[in-house]
Amino acid sequence: MNSLQSFLAVAPVAAKPARPSVGASRLVAPPPRRGRVVACLAPAAAPPPTAGAASGAARRELSAASMAVVEDEARYLVGTYKRSRVVLDAGRGCKLYDLDGREYLDMAAGIAVTAIGHGDPDLTATIARQASTLIHSSNVQYTRPQVALAKRLVEASFADRAFFANTGTEANEAAIKFSRKFQRAAHPDNDAPPAEFLAFDNCFHGRTMGSVALTSKSQYREPFAPVMPGVTFVEYGNLQEAKKVIQTGKLAAVFVEPVQGEGGIHSATQEFLQGLREACDEAGTLLVFDEVQCGLGRTGYLWAHEAYGVEPDIMTLAKPLANGLPIGVVLVKEKVAAAINYGDHGTTFGGGPLVCQAALTVLDKIQKPGFLAEVSKKGENFKQLLRTKLSGNPHVKEIRGVGLIVGIELDVPAGPLVDACLDAGVIVLTAGKGNVVRLVPPLIISEKELELAADVIRDCLPALDDTSS
Ligand SMILES: Cc1ncc(COP(=O)(O)O)c(C=O)c1O
Repeated sequence: MNSLQSFLAVAPVAAKPARPSVGASRLVAPPPRRGRVVACLAPAAAPPPTAGAASGAARRELSAASMAVVEDEARYLVGTYKRSRVVLDAGRGCKLYDLDGREYLDMAAGIAVTAIGHGDPDLTATIARQASTLIHSSNVQYTRPQVALAKRLVEASFADRAFFANTGTEANEAAIKFSRKFQRAAHPDNDAPPAEFLAFDNCFHGRTMGSVALTSKSQYREPFAPVMPGVTFVEYGNLQEAKKVIQTGKLAAVFVEPVQGEGGIHSATQEFLQGLREACDEAGTLLVFDEVQCGLGRTGYLWAHEAYGVEPDIMTLAKPLANGLPIGVVLVKEKVAAAINYGDHGTTFGGGPLVCQAALTVLDKIQKPGFLAEVSKKGENFKQLLRTKLSGNPHVKEIRGVGLIVGIELDVPAGPLVDACLDAGVIVLTAGKGNVVRLVPPLIISEKELELAADVIRDCLPALDDTSS
């Protein structure tokens, strides 16, 4: 039996054990296990699959319990997602466990979300404590966690004030409204103040009607036309073209990701961001950095833009801030906040005490001395490892990224490789036009786990030849 076969060899599912408890005394207990599992993180027992291993998620047998979930999903959910055939049930650190007891190394972190890993005992204790104190109250009254989190984010950033939302797209939606309101206040005698936007090829800013209008992929926008009008897209990095649009004076704001995630892991240059800053200042246009995916430590800097020495007027955050509880944030300079009045914007759930208290615990960990330096070091070593292990494969065009947001660009669709990695016990994502493997693991991942991921990706590369030959 080769190692892949042994990974797939899971004994029949036993009676369903109790779920992990949130009780403080059991916070660090291992997750429930079912049947015999060959742990992918124990290379001595289960080395990475051999070259030529079978690919295709459908090759994994699902238990009756998992199949019931898959079938009910198909019956009862709106079909918005093309899911991998795996039913996840529990997580600890950088490992995930499916309903059938298989173990996976999580190189996706729930799409760049679970920065401090799964089942962190401090976060779990915070959530349990806050849940038993106060979960929700609305924004009609004050709560301490919301104000404490705003203070913490403002003190750690360029910003003067914060607004809390619930998701990345909502944060961007708020940034759109704030930009327009700012321009209205800045042009009191103008019936039609600057209200248009500039965004860039391969960008992703979300799915609601404003954010999706700023998102470059036409297939996300066109089925829902008309979306918010007045958005121009320019090639990412093309400062000359961007300047021409900014200089029209019609823009409320420029939206840009310092490192594009969904679009294929592309980093801006210093010259590009600096040039946008200068052009925006000259035209009175706001500069918005969308750090929903690349912010909060993922690049090895607390804010991705720190590496460039360029500050925005507005920054949007979301994914990792509460490690999986839904949160979005808009951080703004005082001049933007000054244009926003009571009633201009709001949300029932945004900034609730549970999620804000959780975010404070996440920030405690990310801002711990040495944490970000470790992210940088692990990211550099990982890229080097990938270059060493994958070099020579004709499908691998480039390995790029910064910190722990890493992309492997291929000359073919990445799907078969992603499926083979899943079969081999490593969860990875795609990006770009489907030809980039996106690696955004929990930031707490160990060097040993990164090496295992690199080995599995290398050994699964032959899966690409199934489609390309
Ligand atoms: C850069 C960026 N902005 C915005 C979003 C939208 O965030 P959400 O899915 O939380 O609405 C995403 C999601 O992937 C993102 O990567």
